[in-house]
Amino acid sequence: MGIAASRKGSDPVKEPAEARGAGRERLARALQLTAADVEAALDDLLPRPGGLHGRAQEAMRYAVFAGGKRLRPFLVLQCAGLFGARREGAMRVAAAIEALHTYSLVHDDLPAMDNDDLRRGKPTAHRQFDEATAILAGDGLLTLAFELLAGSATHPSGEVRAELVASLARAAGSDGMIGGQMIDIEAPDHELSAEQVIELQQKKTGALFEFSCVAGGILGGAGLAQRAMLRAYARDFGLAFQICDDLIDVLGSADTAGKQVGKDQALGKATLISLWGVDRARTEAERLAMRASEALAPHGADADLLRALPFFLLDRRN
Ligand code: IPE
Ligand code: IPE
Ligand code: MG
Ligand code: MG
Ligand code: MG
Repeated sequence: MGIAASRKGSDPVKEPAEARGAGRERLARALQLTAADVEAALDDLLPRPGGLHGRAQEAMRYAVFAGGKRLRPFLVLQCAGLFGARREGAMRVAAAIEALHTYSLVHDDLPAMDNDDLRRGKPTAHRQFDEATAILAGDGLLTLAFELLAGSATHPSGEVRAELVASLARAAGSDGMIGGQMIDIEAPDHELSAEQVIELQQKKTGALFEFSCVAGGILGGAGLAQRAMLRAYARDFGLAFQICDDLIDVLGSADTAGKQVGKDQALGKATLISLWGVDRARTEAERLAMRASEALAPHGADADLLRALPFFLLDRRN
């Protein structure tokens, strides 16, 4: 039995209508517009390089503005929108999670980690600058994320801001993203079961997606059941997303992916593809996308873009 055996048994997965045709175009446009808004906010919120320490800030900007799909910000803004949260505050949270995600990429690429030269179609930060600067730039982005969440413009309630800070700390910390990276680094020395690989993925990738969705709910005062719905969506979304990332590593090219491919096998990384093969992994990703989209059933048309997103991303090449 797969990880997301659908409620409809082994029926083929049927994408919701909004994930096809005009719905697909609407989503592509929304992603583009959001990315532009998020980039403008990041430009505003990232420190301007200056002074004796300007090099670290230059490297922060280099890594953030090298490109990127800005998916985590999109999730924050869409989920915040479901609960009527103020856009200005949601945009700060969107910028915070993108800063933190970018830090995770800068450190992931370091020689001591995945040792990559290419990220978002450009030389990795340690290649463009140097290792010490890349480490410091990553640290700068990580700490900036919490500064942004804690700022009074994020939400008038200090309690809400503290909850956002604590949630991001948990998601990014040693039981979340850092924990996933630790399992990932040690994986070549162990034989991991599918359940263990799923735990790795949920921590390494899923935790930040979960924060992104739930943060939207926190900003909008969502109740416990609504937060559980966001969490359910994010968990399946995150797993489907990481399976696709691993598929790109096996099937993609550096030109379109903007990063080196073929690395997982070369480094002996545990993925669901190494365990199940491409076809089954792809089928599971489709089922997860379906289940993610079904989790939003209590919402109407306001959740159409979120429902379409996991399907849209199944076909991504970068
Ligand atoms: C890449 O994330 C790292 C993973 C968690 C697999 P993205 O595919 O979201 O990277 P960008 O932000 O678009 O560059
Ligand atoms: C990176 O996973 C996850 C984090 C940075 C937390 P990968 O190592 O698979 O990401 P890519 O393939 O380098 O983008
Ligand atoms: Mg890695
Ligand atoms: Mg990597
Ligand atoms: Mg990868």
